Amino acid sequence: MKSWEDIDLQKGPNTSSSSNHKHLSWEASEESISLTQPVRIEDKRIINGRSDINQLAPFKYPWAWKYFLNANKNHWTPLDVNMTQDVYDYKFKLTEAEIHLYENVLSYLTTSDILAMRNIGLAVMEKMTAPEIQIYQARQVYEESLHTWTYQHCIETLGLNQGEVYNRYRVVPEINAKIQMANNYISVILRNNIDLNDQDELHQFLLSYIFFAAIFEGIWFYNGFSPIFSLQRRGLMRGTAEQFQYIMRDEVMHCSFGIRVIRQILAENNLTLDLNAIQSMWEEAEEAESNYARYILESPILGYKSSDHIEQFRFLSNRRARQLGLSEPFPNAKCALPWLDEQVNICKEKNFFETTVTEYQQGGLSWE
Ligand SMILES: [Fe+2]
Ligand SMILES: [Fe+2]
Repeated sequence: MKSWEDIDLQKGPNTSSSSNHKHLSWEASEESISLTQPVRIEDKRIINGRSDINQLAPFKYPWAWKYFLNANKNHWTPLDVNMTQDVYDYKFKLTEAEIHLYENVLSYLTTSDILAMRNIGLAVMEKMTAPEIQIYQARQVYEESLHTWTYQHCIETLGLNQGEVYNRYRVVPEINAKIQMANNYISVILRNNIDLNDQDELHQFLLSYIFFAAIFEGIWFYNGFSPIFSLQRRGLMRGTAEQFQYIMRDEVMHCSFGIRVIRQILAENNLTLDLNAIQSMWEEAEEAESNYARYILESPILGYKSSDHIEQFRFLSNRRARQLGLSEPFPNAKCALPWLDEQVNICKEKNFFETTVTEYQQGGLSWE
C-alpha cells in the first residue's frame, strides 16, 4: 500500500490514473469522484469542493489544522476563576452607573455568544467542504458554548435576576439593534435552498461571514469587553475580567481564522466584493455600536467614556478591513484605548486568588 509520502499529490498515485481526472471541473461536472481514487489536494476547496469531506489528509489548508492545534492549547472553564471578590465588589463597591454598565454588557454578551455558536455551527460549517476547516470550526462551536457558560456562571455567582438579564436584549432597543443586525445576517444564509454556485448567493454568504468574523467577533466582542476591563484596571470585578480575557483570546482566533477563510474563498472563486455593501455594513455596525455605547454609559463612570468606546470601534474597523485586504472604512480613526490589545496578551498569574488554574498557553500566537 502506498503511503502519503509515496503519492505525488499533484498527479495522483500514478500518472495513468491522473489523466482520468482531467475532465473534472468544479463548474461543469456533476459526477462524484470515485471512492477508489485517492483525495487530491487540487480537488479540495473551502466551499463547493469535490473531494471526500470525511478524509482529513492530504491537507490543502495546513494553517487551519494549526488553528485547531493552537485552540487546544487554550483549555479553561469558568470554574477555574475565583469570583469571590467580584461578589463583594458588586454588592459593596460598584456605583449604580457601574452596575448598569456591568449588567448590560453581560446581557448583550449572553445572547451574542449563542448567535455566534449558531452562526458557525448551523449556518457556516455545513457549507465548508474541506475537513480541516470544519474541524477548527467544530472547536469554535464548543468555545462559543463555553463562553455562554461563562456569562451564566457570572450571572449565577453574583445572584443576578436571570430572567431579567436574559430578557433585557428584547426590551432595550440599543441592545436589540445589535442582536437584530446579527440575526439578519444569519437568517439570509441559514436556508436549505442557498446555492453557493450562484455568485450572488455566494456574495451574500461572504458578506455574512465578514460581518460575523470581522465585526461581530473581531470588534463587537473584542471591544465589547473593554468596559469590564476598565473596571478591572481600577481593581474591580477582576474575576469577570479574567474570564473575559480568556474569551477574548478565543475570539481573536475566531476572527483571524474567519478572515483567512474569507480571503481564501475570494481567491478560489474569483469573486469581487461589492465595496458599497461593505461600507454600508461598517456604517450600520458603527451606528448600532454608538447607540449601545451611549446606553451602557448613559451615566459616566470613572475612566471610561462612550466616545472612547465608539472611537475604538472605528479604529478596530480599520484594522479588520486591512486584514481583509480592504480600504479603511473610517480613515483617521485613533486608538482610544491603547491598553486594550495588552489585555489579550496578559499571562495568567500563578496561584491567582489561590486557585489552581492551568496556565493559559499562547503557543507562539499573535493576539490582536
Ligand atoms: Fe464567543
Ligand atoms: Fe467567536
